[in-house]
Amino acid sequence: MKLSAFGEKLSTGAGILSLMDDLGNALAEGDKIMMGGGNPGHIPEIQEVMRQRLQALIADEQSLRKLIGVYDPPKGEVDFCKALATLLRREYGWDLNEENICLTNGSQGAFFLLFNLLAGRTANGGHRKILLPIAPEYIGYADLGLSDDFFTSVQPRIEPVGEKFFKYRVDFERIAVTDEIGAICVSRPTNPTGNVLTDDEIAGLANLAETHDIPLIIDNAYGTPFPCMIYTEVKPVWNKHLILCMSLSKFGLPAVRTGIVVAEKEIIRLLSGVNAVVNLATGSFGAMLTTEIIQSGEIIRLSREVIRPFYQKKMERALACIEKSFTGFPYKVHVPEGAMFLWLWFPGLPVSSRQLYERLKQRGVVVVSGDYFFPGLAPGWRHAEECLRITYSQAEEDVQQGVAVIADEVRSLFAQQ
Ligand SMILES: Cc1ncc(COP(=O)(O)O)c(C=O)c1O
Repeated sequence: MKLSAFGEKLSTGAGILSLMDDLGNALAEGDKIMMGGGNPGHIPEIQEVMRQRLQALIADEQSLRKLIGVYDPPKGEVDFCKALATLLRREYGWDLNEENICLTNGSQGAFFLLFNLLAGRTANGGHRKILLPIAPEYIGYADLGLSDDFFTSVQPRIEPVGEKFFKYRVDFERIAVTDEIGAICVSRPTNPTGNVLTDDEIAGLANLAETHDIPLIIDNAYGTPFPCMIYTEVKPVWNKHLILCMSLSKFGLPAVRTGIVVAEKEIIRLLSGVNAVVNLATGSFGAMLTTEIIQSGEIIRLSREVIRPFYQKKMERALACIEKSFTGFPYKVHVPEGAMFLWLWFPGLPVSSRQLYERLKQRGVVVVSGDYFFPGLAPGWRHAEECLRITYSQAEEDVQQGVAVIADEVRSLFAQQ
């Protein structure tokens, strides 16, 4: 079949497509310990709240009709946007209303629309890029650009934290915001590292963006006020120079596909327009399921008192397991400040992280090779070949068994050196 450039670009994506295929195949084979995927855990208390909300919607004829039988406006469900604007004003004092909010079918879709609105070929024959100011960064961005050479990313500083931990810091000296840059984007908390950029780092990036009159996009998929998978104290920020992307996925609703964009009104107007062209309307399901808990503020309580402790406990247990099992070889873990991943670094690893991934898969443990997470970074940084991402959101026994196999494999690799 003869494909367009668009067809070629999106169907042959080497990054996320092959990764998702591989994870999907491994899952289908069964009998594997899955520490690779990004699926959130299933939390009974959240599922019960959602069951009750769904039952209430189904029981009411008007609500049911709206739930399944009426197109929402392209900007998304109005009551939801109003409720969220009220909540953000009340919690954080942000100067916004529902015209600053729109919904998309998942936040992944929001990034596709936003990135291609702000970067790529320009009308006057130029080309603009998205700057990722700190790599490693979320692999899901890697194939979203409709033109080549879409991202440029920056190597971080590595700051040792105690003997066994480290933290990536934005290296402002390496960042060059040229006329080629259309927007800056960071995930906070970061997938894959669990890093949470400090308030100073965010202020520095916001300042850079404002100086160059481009937006700073903050991917808040794991952040506050929901799902609040964040284990440090940081200040949530938004102003009209920032685009904050949120999601209901990690609150426990990945299948309903609700992404949320909070931005200045003009950006929301543009996004809604593109959304109308591409999707006609945005799905109402996630919005209708959660409007009431946003109105009441219950979503904040659930995030702080149920979701955060659920993941924090899992993170602490996974870390304890690593400390016990990882003996006889060099390793460091990125300080786990948020999200649901541990980012493992094996300095001097005798094979590439991709080879380590293959070996672990042979032994029934599926992780993600770290080299995927450096989109836009010039090749040649050895560190990018020495890391793995593991997910701790799933069953604890699996995490324990998986960590033991990783320890055994890495130990034998170093022993054979
Ligand atoms: C950092 C980050 N951003 C965005 C997404 C996309 O989430 P969704 O499209 O489910 O809202 C994910 C999914 O795992 C993610 O980890």
